Parts: sequence; structure tokens; C-alpha cells
Amino acid sequence: MVSDEEIEKAAAILRAGGLVAFPTETVYGLGADASNVAAVRKIFAAKGRPADHPVIVHVAGTSDLKHWTAEVPRSAWLLAEKFWPGPLTMVLKRAAHVSDLITGGQDTVGLRVPSHPVAQQLLKAFGGGIAAPSANRFGRLSPTAAQHVREELGDAVNFVLDGGPSDVGIESTIVDLTRETPAVLRPGRISDQQIADALLVQLGATATAAGRPRVSGSLESHYAPGLPLKIVPPEEIESYVRARAGTPVAVLSRRGRPRDSKATLWQVAPESPDDYARLLYGSLRWLDVSGCRLIVVEALPLLPEWVAIRDRLGRAATPDPVAPPVTARR
Ligand code: TXA
Ligand code: MG
Repeated sequence: MVSDEEIEKAAAILRAGGLVAFPTETVYGLGADASNVAAVRKIFAAKGRPADHPVIVHVAGTSDLKHWTAEVPRSAWLLAEKFWPGPLTMVLKRAAHVSDLITGGQDTVGLRVPSHPVAQQLLKAFGGGIAAPSANRFGRLSPTAAQHVREELGDAVNFVLDGGPSDVGIESTIVDLTRETPAVLRPGRISDQQIADALLVQLGATATAAGRPRVSGSLESHYAPGLPLKIVPPEEIESYVRARAGTPVAVLSRRGRPRDSKATLWQVAPESPDDYARLLYGSLRWLDVSGCRLIVVEALPLLPEWVAIRDRLGRAATPDPVAPPVTARR
């Protein structure tokens, strides 16, 4: 998959203050030496990301927690034991040496131990923390394959490690452990319930987007494809498409294409939430360049196992992208 030489090359680029995109089990990250402010600054330039948005620091193992934090609550050790390495990011009180660029000027730092073998190899070869947001342009879909990174960032990244398609497919769960009651800031594969069970507590209410502007993923339009995207109940998709005759529509649905469908493209998505999440961003990227004018995604069940996926689709959606022509409304 990735050779030792490539890992060494990537680690050397990080040491020299360059940018390396690397696979994680969630999505690809755009990495820089977390202890090098000039290097971290390059991440923001490459992504076109506002400087007040904090960046997650990736570390090789739980033993690195202390270096990056001022204090490690018992809850952090419990969650680390249970979910690291894996798709969980913990927000903790930062150590004094952590740069404002990484914390977004806050007194907290987001930490994660990824499980992807290539990410692990890179972290071990590099020997320090790797600051890395998702390797996409600001506001766009996260990349789940090396090719997505190359298309999106081109020469802005010095080297891309190709570790194959990401397994989880959506970004890590973020849990804030600096409050009196832990709260999930961004839902992901590891559910609120799993975290509550591990901590034996009830989680605090997840803050609304307005209440946590520093989590860039909580901004209204985030994780979005280029085309307008509309979420429509499955039984209404066909009439929605028909009402927009003349507009080429791409549909993403778990159901098969109806025989007489007027959709230009009909992409069938997997039934299970894990499989759905794994393929989601890749499918949206593909539909985005399909030549259609609008993406219609089937509304998903209001069940806990769909919460994280519904969250991402909700952010990708546009309020009313293509209104039906006046004549069709009668
Ligand atoms: O799965 C993931 O988390 C991927 C992979 C590459 O690890 N990373 C990722 O990074 O999604 P990014 O920057 O695209 O999203 C991380 C989110 C941002 O919304 C950021 O605002 C939030 O984490 N975040 C980072 N540090 C934080 C902190 N100290 N307090 C609150 N939110 C924080
Ligand atoms: Mg991102």
C-alpha cells in the first residue's frame, strides 16, 4: 500500500515544515508539524480556511495526551482506553506550549489517535504531533481517497500518502471534555450513546451551531458539494424530479431506480449506515461532476444510527436550490 520509503519521505517533509496529506480511517488529513507554527500556517493557506478555526492534533498513542494538555480528566483516560486508536477526537484543556493557531485562540486542544495503519506509521516515523484538518478546500466535502486530495489541493500539498479508500467515510466524533458535562460537538461513527455508556454519564445537550462557532464543521454550509443539494422524502423524489422537468437531476437513494424515473442519474446507496457513510462523500463528488444541475438525496431514517450521516447531509443541503417552474406548481 505505502512503502517504508514513502513514510520516511513524508516524515522528512513534515520535519522540514512541509505539508503531507495522509489517510485516516475517517477521511484524509492535511498534515503539518503541530509544533511548527509556520508549517501549521501553511494548512490554512492551502485550504483557504479562516485562521480562527482550531485544528485537531493527531498523536500516535494515549501516552501523548499529557504532552498536549494541561490536565487529563478521568473521562479522557476512559474514552482513550475504549475508543483509541479510532474515530474519536477529544477536546481538552491545552498545554501552554500549544500554538493559538492550533487552538483557534481558545484554551482547549482537540486530540485524536487515528487507527489507520499508514497514519500510525507516519506518526511513529515523525515522532511528534501532526496538526491536520480534513484535506479539502474550506467548506467542501472531505476527501475519502488520495485522488480526491490531489484534485482538490493540487500543488498546495507537498506529498500525498495513498492508503486506499477511508473506511469510516465521515469525520471523527468530537467530544468536549472541558465542560462539567461532556458534550458531543460533532456526531460520528462513535455514537453519543457509546460515549455515554463508556463514561456512565448523561451527555450535556449538544450545543447548537450558533453556540459553537469555533467548530468549523458547525457552520451552516459545510461539507458541501458544488451543486445545490436537496433532501427529499423517498416517496416524494419522483414527483420532485418531475416538477423540475428540464433540470437534469442526479438522485442518491437506497432504493432502486423506478422504471419510469425522470431523473438523469440515479445512484443507489447502501442500506446500512456504516456502508452508506463509507461511500457518501465519494458518491457526492461523483454526482457533482455528472453534468447534472441538482443533487437530490433521499431523506434518511430518524434513528440514532443515522444521526452523523444526517448531520453531514443537512450541512451539504441548500434551502431551496431549484424551485419548480411556475407552471409546474399548479
Ligand atoms: O476525522 C477527522 O476528525 C478528520 C481527520 C483528518 O482526523 N479531521 C477533521 O478535521 O475533520 P477538521 O479540521 O476538518 O474538523 C475538525 C473539527 C473542526 O470543526 C474544528 O473546529 C474542531 O474539530 N476542533 C478542533 N479543535 C477544537 C477545539 N479545541 N475545540 C473545539 N473544536 C475543535
Ligand atoms: Mg473539515
